[in-house]
Amino acid sequence: MAQIEKANSLGEWLDQRLKTRALMKVLLTEYWIPKKINFLWSFGMVLVTLFVVLIVTGIFLLMYYKPDAGLAFFSVNYTIMQEVAYGWVFRHMHAVAASLIFLFIYIHMFTGIYYGSFKSGREVIWITGMLLFVLFSAAGFSGYMLPWGQMSYWAATVITGLFEKIPLIGPDLVFWIRGDYIVGDATLTRFFMLHVFLFPLAIILIVAIHFFALRTPHVNNEDGEEIDFEAEAVKYIVSDKKKSKVMPFWPKFMAEDIFVMSVVFTIFFFLVFFGYSFAMDPINFLPADYTATPSHIYPEWYFLWSYEVLRGIHFSSSLGLIAFTIANAIFFLLPWLDRDKRVRPMHERPLVKIWFWSLVAVMIGLTIFGKLPADGGFAWTVHIGLLLSILFLVLTLVVLPLASYMERKKEEL
Ligand code: HEM
Repeated sequence: MAQIEKANSLGEWLDQRLKTRALMKVLLTEYWIPKKINFLWSFGMVLVTLFVVLIVTGIFLLMYYKPDAGLAFFSVNYTIMQEVAYGWVFRHMHAVAASLIFLFIYIHMFTGIYYGSFKSGREVIWITGMLLFVLFSAAGFSGYMLPWGQMSYWAATVITGLFEKIPLIGPDLVFWIRGDYIVGDATLTRFFMLHVFLFPLAIILIVAIHFFALRTPHVNNEDGEEIDFEAEAVKYIVSDKKKSKVMPFWPKFMAEDIFVMSVVFTIFFFLVFFGYSFAMDPINFLPADYTATPSHIYPEWYFLWSYEVLRGIHFSSSLGLIAFTIANAIFFLLPWLDRDKRVRPMHERPLVKIWFWSLVAVMIGLTIFGKLPADGGFAWTVHIGLLLSILFLVLTLVVLPLASYMERKKEEL
C-alpha cells in the first residue's frame, strides 16, 4: 500500500482515511437547494432538532423512570420532579418538545400540501413523511402512558379498546395488545419498550429514507418551477453566484434554518420554564385509578381532530371507527387524490385553494370541538362534531379529486 503523506490537521488525517471532504461536499456544501423558498422550508430541520432534544432528554429521564405499574407514577412525579437535581427541567423539556413537534409536523405537512411538494416524483418523500407522522403519533401515545396518571391510564384503555370493534379478531387483538384483559403492568412494560426503543429506531430509519428520497426530485420551491439543478450548480460554482437559482445546503440554507430555530427555541424555553401546563393535563397528576373513570376522557391536543371524527359519528360506533381509520389513512393517498399532477402552489389554483383553506378550517374546528365534553351544557356540540366529521370526509374523498380534475380540464381547453 502506498505511503500516506503526513497530515497537517485532524480534518486532513480523517480525509486521508475516510474521504470526509468528498462526503461533506455530497451532504452539505454541494447539496443544492432552490433559492426561491421561504421560512416554511426551515421546519424540516426544526423537526430534526426537536427530535434530538427528545432523544437527549429521554435518555436522562430513563435513568430514573421505573416501568412498573406500582412505581411509575412516583418515579416521575416524586423522584424526577422533586428529588433529582434539575429532573423537572428534563421532564418539562421532553413534554414541551413532544407537544411542539406535532405543531411543526402539521405546519411542515401543510406547507407540502400548499406548494404541491407531494406529487410528480415526490411520492416517496410524502409517504415516508406520513409514516413519520404515524410513528410520532404512536410514540406520543405510548409516552403519554408512561407517567401512569389517571389520563395516561384511561386514554390507553379507550384507545386500545377501539380495536375491539374489528370483526372476528377484535377481542383477541385487544388482549394481545394489552397483554392482559385490562390495561395493566404488562401493557405498561410493552409500551415502555416501544416508546424508548422500537419507535425511535423506526423514526431514525424513516427519517434517513425521507432525506434520501429528497435527493432525486430535489427540494421544491415557492413557484413549483422545474430547475435544472446541474446547470444551476455549475453557474453557482464557476460563474455567477447571484444569478444561479440554487444555493448550497451549507452554509446558505442552514443560515436561514438557524434563524428560524432560534425563534422556535426562544418559544420552546419560554414554555419549558413558564408555560409547562400547556403540554400536561392536570388530571394526569393523579395516580392511575382502575376503579374511577375521569368524567371526560380526551387525548392530547394533536390527536383531537381525529378523535372528534371518531366521536362525531355518534349514532354508530362502528361507522365512527371506519371514519377514524379513513381520517388517519387518507393523507397517505394525497398524491393520487389530487388529479392535477403538476407541481404548483395553491395561489395558482383558485378552486383547490378554497379546498385547502376549508380543510385547515375544518381540522381546527374538529380540534376545538374534540376538547369539549359531549354532555351536560355541551350536549349540542355533538351535532357540530358530526357535521365537521362529514365535512372532513367529503373534502378529502370527494372535493379534492373533483376540484383538481375540473381545474385541470378547464386549463386544458
Ligand atoms: C417529523 C419528522 C420529519 C422530519 C425530521 C422531516 C424532515 C424534512 C426535511 C429536513 C426536509 C427538507 C427541507 C424542508 O422542506 O423542510 C423535508 C421535506 C419534506 N417533507 Fe418532511 N420531515 C418530517 C415529517 C414529514 C411529514 C409528516 C410530512 C408529510 C406527510 C413530510 C413531508 C415532506 C415533504 C413533502 C417534503 C419536501 C418539501 C419540498 O420538496 O419542498 N415530512 N422533511
